[in-house]
This record gives sequence, C-alpha cells and structure tokens, in this order.
Amino acid sequence: RLPLLIDTDPGVDDALAILMAHAHTDVAALTVAAGNVGLKHTVRNARTLVDLVGAATPVFAGCPSPLVRAPEEDAAFVHGEDGFGDVGFPEPTHPAEAEHAALAIIRLTNERPGELTLVALGPLTNLALAVRLDPTLPRRMKRLVIMGGAVTGHGNTGKVPAEFNIGFDPEAAHVVFESFDMFDLVDWEATVRHAFPDAIYEGWVASGDKRAAFFHDVFGTARKFNAEHERTGFIAADALAMAVALDPGMVTRAETRHVAIELDGRLTRGATVVDWHNRLGGKANARIVLEVDQGRFGELIAGALGVG
Ligand code: BDR
Ligand code: CA
Repeated sequence: RLPLLIDTDPGVDDALAILMAHAHTDVAALTVAAGNVGLKHTVRNARTLVDLVGAATPVFAGCPSPLVRAPEEDAAFVHGEDGFGDVGFPEPTHPAEAEHAALAIIRLTNERPGELTLVALGPLTNLALAVRLDPTLPRRMKRLVIMGGAVTGHGNTGKVPAEFNIGFDPEAAHVVFESFDMFDLVDWEATVRHAFPDAIYEGWVASGDKRAAFFHDVFGTARKFNAEHERTGFIAADALAMAVALDPGMVTRAETRHVAIELDGRLTRGATVVDWHNRLGGKANARIVLEVDQGRFGELIAGALGVG
C-alpha cells in the first residue's frame, strides 16, 4: 500500500480526501496548515477525522499564516466558521504532536527516503518552509500531488483569477513550484469538470455508514454556498487530487508544462501561469491533470463513504 503524507487545511473537501486516503491506503501523517480557516480549527478538524476513522495517524500543526503577506481572505464563508460546517462536533480525543509540521515532513522523508507520496490539499506554506529548511527534501519524496491553481484563469477566489490554495500563499507556492522537478497539478478547473450529479452524491451519503453521515453534516454550509453561487453538482477539489494520488493510472489526459506563480501582478497575484507555448523557456515542472476516469473517481469516494 502506497504510504501518503497529507498536508491539509480541513475543510470540507479535505475531509473527504482524508477519508479516502484512510479507506484505501496507509497514511503516515497529517500535516496541517492554515487556509480555509485558522490553524486552531484546521488542526482540530484533522484530529476529529482521525477519531472518526479510528486510526492512529499522527497530526502535526504547521504554520498559522502565509510565509510573507497576510491573506486577503479565508474560506470560512464556504466551509463554515470552524471549517467543518459549524456542526458543533465535540472536542476530539486524538492528540496533536508537539513537532512542527515542516519538521515532521523533513523527518518522515528521512526515515523513509523515496517511499512517501505527499498530497498537498491546502496552501503550500508548510511544504515551502520544509524545502527552505532542507533543500534536499524533494529528492526524498516519491511523488508530489498538488491541489491548486487555475490553469485556464477562472479561479475561485474573490478578486483575482487565482485558485484559493495558491492565492492564500503565493510565495509558498512559488518556492514549491521552483523546488520540485516534477509534480502532478490538479487545478480548480479540472475539479469543476469532474463534478458529480447531485443524485450520485445523495446516494453516497445515504449509505448508512458513519463516515457518510459525518460528511453530509460537514458539507451543509458549503452545499448551501454552492447552490447560491450556481456551482452545480458535487465538486470536491481535494478529493480529485487524492484520487489521482491513490490511482495515478486513472488520469486519461494530462499536459506537462512549465508552471510559475505570479507574485506581483496588479490584478493577478497568485495566478498560476502556464507556459502553454514554451515562450518562457522554463523547464516543465508540472503534469497538469486535465481528465480522469470519472467512474474510478466515484468508486474511490464511494469506498470512503462506506457505500456497497
Ligand atoms: C481548494 O481551496 C480550498 O477551499 C479547498 O479545500 C481546496 O483545497 C480549492 O480551491
Ligand atoms: Ca483544502
């Protein structure tokens, strides 16, 4: 079983991705960043998930803010003030470790060189810090899959044509994109193209499994937001990145290109700039996932929600 390190800011779709990982493979750690909501909530939510699945996955708290600039917005208006739909879950029992997330990433990859796949589901702050502390880190990682970016420029943040994870901490994304020779990039627009019809979602969450009931509760505020903003179908960004990490063979169309992060633009700070026509002459660093086997994607979600 492919061992994963998951860097995350749970978050509704992070929750589904983390359930998928625990259902289908071994999870070495959850390293947690601020993003969708503040670090206090994201760490608590990670611990709640580990309790739910009854695992022993260690949870490491990371950076409470982006590397350089304060973020313009969080995503509480989608995920709820607590990041988990403001359901009011009890205090989790699973502890958080004392070690910083960035140090844990360095240590775990030293203990298991070449073995771990890192799935990045939030702002890239922890990973950027880890790479700056230890520039040899990328060599010890088996694979990196990033949920982030908006390669055709639509995006999902308020003001600029950026995607949330990159827009929250563009400097961190810049460090990571420059430091890894190659990674899989699952961008926002790919996740929109791979939405599921509402009826399929309804079938999954009616499975009777406690994970399905939990997820449906957590999804309440985001679902309402989607309905009010003409986001149709069930869109689960982090779940798609997780699916690609779990089953690389499910990718049916991808393009390998140089991708850089805009740090300064008057209108475009945080945009993912794809050098589609090789004008910048940069080395290709990203395999941009454009299409996956939707049936397989659905099976991986269904398995995590106890369907069948
Ligand atoms: C990404 O931003 C967050 O709100 C989601 O959890 C996902 O990681 C989508 O742009
Ligand atoms: Ca996320």
